[in-house]
Amino acid sequence: MDIAELQRTVERDLASIQSEADLRAIRDRYLARKGGILSTLLKELASAPVDERKTRGAALNALKHYVETHIEAAQQQIAQRPRGSAIDVTLPGRPPLAGHRHPLTLMRDRVEAIFLRMGFLIVEGPELEDDYHNFEALNMPAEHPARDMQDTLYLATPVPAPGGRAATLLRTHTSGMQIRYMETHQPPVRLIAPGRVYRRDGLDLTHSPMFSQVEGLVVGEDVTLADLKGTLVAFARELFGAERGTRFRPSFFPYTEPSGELDISCAACEGRGCAMCKQTGWIEVLGSGMVHPAVFEAVGYDPERYTGFAFGVGIERLALLKWGVEDIRLFYENDLRFLEQFPL
Ligand code: DAH
Repeated sequence: MDIAELQRTVERDLASIQSEADLRAIRDRYLARKGGILSTLLKELASAPVDERKTRGAALNALKHYVETHIEAAQQQIAQRPRGSAIDVTLPGRPPLAGHRHPLTLMRDRVEAIFLRMGFLIVEGPELEDDYHNFEALNMPAEHPARDMQDTLYLATPVPAPGGRAATLLRTHTSGMQIRYMETHQPPVRLIAPGRVYRRDGLDLTHSPMFSQVEGLVVGEDVTLADLKGTLVAFARELFGAERGTRFRPSFFPYTEPSGELDISCAACEGRGCAMCKQTGWIEVLGSGMVHPAVFEAVGYDPERYTGFAFGVGIERLALLKWGVEDIRLFYENDLRFLEQFPL
């Protein structure tokens, strides 16, 4: 057998070693005492002429040594491979975890964007509030029955509130921001005030002791009920889609007169009536009304000269309605399986 050709075959075989099994097969093929190619050729040399025995013997021994060292090296390489961690390059990659906004932040951003486009200013105020801004200046004096509508969380130890009074409570609504802004600014006013509010409610399907609202206030020399309706209907259409119906229903709030609540047609039953809308076909979205003259008097605005409208809307409520979420608690539990579904 031609040695040069044998050498080429040997090299090809050595290069193809992948596993321990390959290694054993190749060692057997060339080096097995019985039947190994090299072993056999070397044995056959015994009966060859002296010259050939010398040259061919040297070449065959060199080749044998070559095979032995390579097999040893391959064996070490295989032994060093960590078990079971061979990389499978055909596996799909793991996408990196990208952060995203919380659905309530997303909804607040959407509400803000709609009112910003209508020329509203965004202001924020304190969550620890005094009685005057949360109730009294909003036409709810100490014994006013409307105070019972909101179960208030009071502070055991009052702390200073902006403006000098003592904060004795967690604000029950964002309406106090109407007062805070008007106290320090002259008309015209066109603002929204988003933020957290607190009530003495338990946590259940539809209630939470902490939730968020957006307050709205517009004041000028000739602001009318038509402006209120136009603005709030435009808002509802922008958020929920122009195909949803809207209606105003009379209501009562001490700081507005007249007061009204805005409803949108129920998306679940398209207005026919179902459990979601308590068979009415309508779902309440927000409270609103024309600013009560007593509120203007409290902040030193002339109620003969100025008129205005105000509204308050729950951000969780908007999110529940917009995305069909059935349990308000989901917004506070930080379960990624829920949070990762937004925006829908
Ligand atoms: N403050 C009310 C609430 O928490 C919402 C509200 C109703 C705000 C009417 C207003 C308004 O500004 O005019 O339920």
